[in-house]
Amino acid sequence: MAAENGYVVGVVGATGAVGSTILEVLAERDFPAREVVPFASERSEGKKVDFNGSKLECRPLTPESIQGLDIALASAGGKISAEWAPKLVDAGAVVVDNTSYWRMHDDVPLVVAGVNDDAAEGHNGIVANPNCTTMQMMVALKPLHDAAELERLVVSTYQSVSGTGREAIKELKAQSAAILDGKEAEAEVFPHQVAFNVLPQVEQFTEGDDYTTEERKVMKETRKILGLSEDVGISATCVRVPVVTGHSESVNVQTKRDLSPEDARDLLSNTPGIVVLDDPGAGVYPLPIAVEGRDEVLVGRIRRDPSHERCLNLWVVGDNLRKGAATNAVQVAELLHERDLVQVPARA
Ligand SMILES: NC(=O)c1ccc[n+]([C@@H]2O[C@H](COP(=O)([O-])OP(=O)(O)OC[C@H]3O[C@@H](n4cnc5c(N)ncnc54)[C@H](OP(=O)(O)O)[C@@H]3O)[C@@H](O)[C@H]2O)c1
Repeated sequence: MAAENGYVVGVVGATGAVGSTILEVLAERDFPAREVVPFASERSEGKKVDFNGSKLECRPLTPESIQGLDIALASAGGKISAEWAPKLVDAGAVVVDNTSYWRMHDDVPLVVAGVNDDAAEGHNGIVANPNCTTMQMMVALKPLHDAAELERLVVSTYQSVSGTGREAIKELKAQSAAILDGKEAEAEVFPHQVAFNVLPQVEQFTEGDDYTTEERKVMKETRKILGLSEDVGISATCVRVPVVTGHSESVNVQTKRDLSPEDARDLLSNTPGIVVLDDPGAGVYPLPIAVEGRDEVLVGRIRRDPSHERCLNLWVVGDNLRKGAATNAVQVAELLHERDLVQVPARA
């Protein structure tokens, strides 16, 4: 354990949308790092990334380059984490993984800092960070679940393009410029033009399933994080909108016990990590352009669902690159540090 002098921290996917935000957040929060080592693909070998005012050189992942790390924050995609997370653990690093690959493994805790911190205890070397869409919803739902117990959940999302990574941001900008210039918009990252459009598909449809992989993640991860039984109904519709950063969600929450909008507003206002913006008549409600760069989840439009006496509607907005990914990963690393959990358990 290297806490006395700080940890050697690997950032895997350091040139990407999430990885570059992790580097910013590590510096902002003054994470106890003695050294930060950025990793990217072979294409980026030698490329420099910014960290806390200095330039760090990216390395490719090799059996040699991953030696000596205490902790690795990984966001280079599911295939990379499937292969490299176990190798990083074998080399002695605890991995906080942002990809979807390890999230639903039984022996991998899925942790939203401030929501289910205790789940990190007893990790086997890998701790997973939930999907960005799930993450912000968990922050908003946890206090309501604790107070009145969830019975049913229906969520519709309005997700920004940065959730798909840096190429998707470029695509939205290029399409917008092309269309405003009277030209044809080319779609490569998304299945259709996303600029000036709304796509009722986030990620893929797998054979025989009429829900997308993103919708399945939201439903399964919510259950795992909040420890909900199969009796609690969860339904998700995930939609891509032409917003650069910040996911919005319309969340319909049915609880077992009565919970008034006023009580929900009080509970949410008193929860760290949440800012309630709820004066709709005055135009005060959460907006993605207002959440960009912030770590709090914004909640507003808190109101009774007139079709059910134990049901509320909420509008939940979060920065998918910050609390939805990078900030939570760094908060999990802080949690591991505080609880003396930055160590890979000995193998039997
Ligand atoms: N974007 C979000 O809001 C968000 C939120 C939560 C979780 N995630 C998850 O985080 C992961 C990354 O997302 P992103 O949005 O940051 O994607 P991105 O912008 O496309 O970045 C991908 C990163 O992975 C690196 N990479 C690719 N192949 C690699 C390899 N063989 N070895 C090492 N590094 C490699 C890339 O390096 P090069 O520059 O060398 O190509 C780049 O740094 C995904 O699994 C995603 O599902 C994303």
